[in-house]
Amino acid sequence: MTEAARTTFTPRVFSGIQPTNHLQLGNYLGAVKRFVEMQNSGIETIYCIVDLHAMTTWQDPADLRTATRELAASYIAAGLDPKRSILFNQSQVPGHAELGWIFNCVARMGWMNRMTQWKDKAGKDAEKASLGLLAYPSLMAADILLYHATRVPVGEDQKQHVELTRDIAAKFNHDYGVDFFPMTEPVIDGAATRVMSLRDGSRKMSKSDPSDASRINLTDDADTIAQKFRKARTDAEPLPESVGGLKDRPEARNLVNIYAALADVTVEAVVAQFAGKGFGTFKPALADLAVARIAPIASEMQRLMADPAEIDRLLGDGAERANAIAAPILARTKEIVGLVASRRR
Ligand code: TYM
Repeated sequence: MTEAARTTFTPRVFSGIQPTNHLQLGNYLGAVKRFVEMQNSGIETIYCIVDLHAMTTWQDPADLRTATRELAASYIAAGLDPKRSILFNQSQVPGHAELGWIFNCVARMGWMNRMTQWKDKAGKDAEKASLGLLAYPSLMAADILLYHATRVPVGEDQKQHVELTRDIAAKFNHDYGVDFFPMTEPVIDGAATRVMSLRDGSRKMSKSDPSDASRINLTDDADTIAQKFRKARTDAEPLPESVGGLKDRPEARNLVNIYAALADVTVEAVVAQFAGKGFGTFKPALADLAVARIAPIASEMQRLMADPAEIDRLLGDGAERANAIAAPILARTKEIVGLVASRRR
């Protein structure tokens, strides 16, 4: 297809988070905080609680329900406005699963087998992993392309999945001779696109790390946050005079990145502020900043959780609005691939 024939897609943002455990600081800085910023950028924003993705590993049903509502509460507490953004849980819009199936028939097994997250999560026991876990990236492509989303804010660890989304869109467009799905761009920017574990600077901070000390949970109280930063692994050197001095110091680099992201300043500015200071000075300053940013979110989240019916109502409204965008795109996709639609609505 020539450049001139390319469709221009209206800019639209989509992203999602799995409702598993509490949000950790990496999710907040790498995702939620940036979702809120994009909400104010003049582009339509759609944010999803990807409950169907969570199911790819075993979830106790009662826990899944609670985690879904808690994630909705966290989104809102962190500044997402359910009026300005569309906020909903994935399973309430059936198009995700339907388009996911169509993409299962477009994506190739080889592509799925190469996904780093699949290899990490399934590990050596891949035979026992759910089929859903292998197909996960194709459902993720459906999440994004069901809305013709052009921009997807994510942390660094999701880059490969967004690239696969582009591969699926390109193969679909090519196989059916259309220019129907956009080439979505991952948006991975800011100082904290890969927040690392506080215990090991070579591993990313994760909700599923068995060590609670490795992460800051958005629900941690002030004392716990201060203690976790105090115990965070670092080297013995003071902070350097320039950013170049953080090279080969992954733990120090991580804490400086976290500070920069929380304070909304550059890494250079943090280094300039703390040059020559030891961690005895830097860590308490970081803990104070983190508490100042996180504590209000945690208390607002608790307040919202007191009224789960209101959360469900907001999610239901969001799902209606999401479905209104998704339905015509799904209907056209079905038509393109040759599925007969004759049922009266
Ligand atoms: P999930 O639920 O693992 O993580 C949610 C978001 O948080 C980011 N993130 C991090 N960012 C920086 N540092 C970290 N340590 C860190 N840990 C997590 C993730 O990059 C992500 O942006 N597959 C996705 C969910 C998903 C999705 C989508 C995302 C499903 N469909 C469509 C975007 C568009 C996931 O498991 O994210």
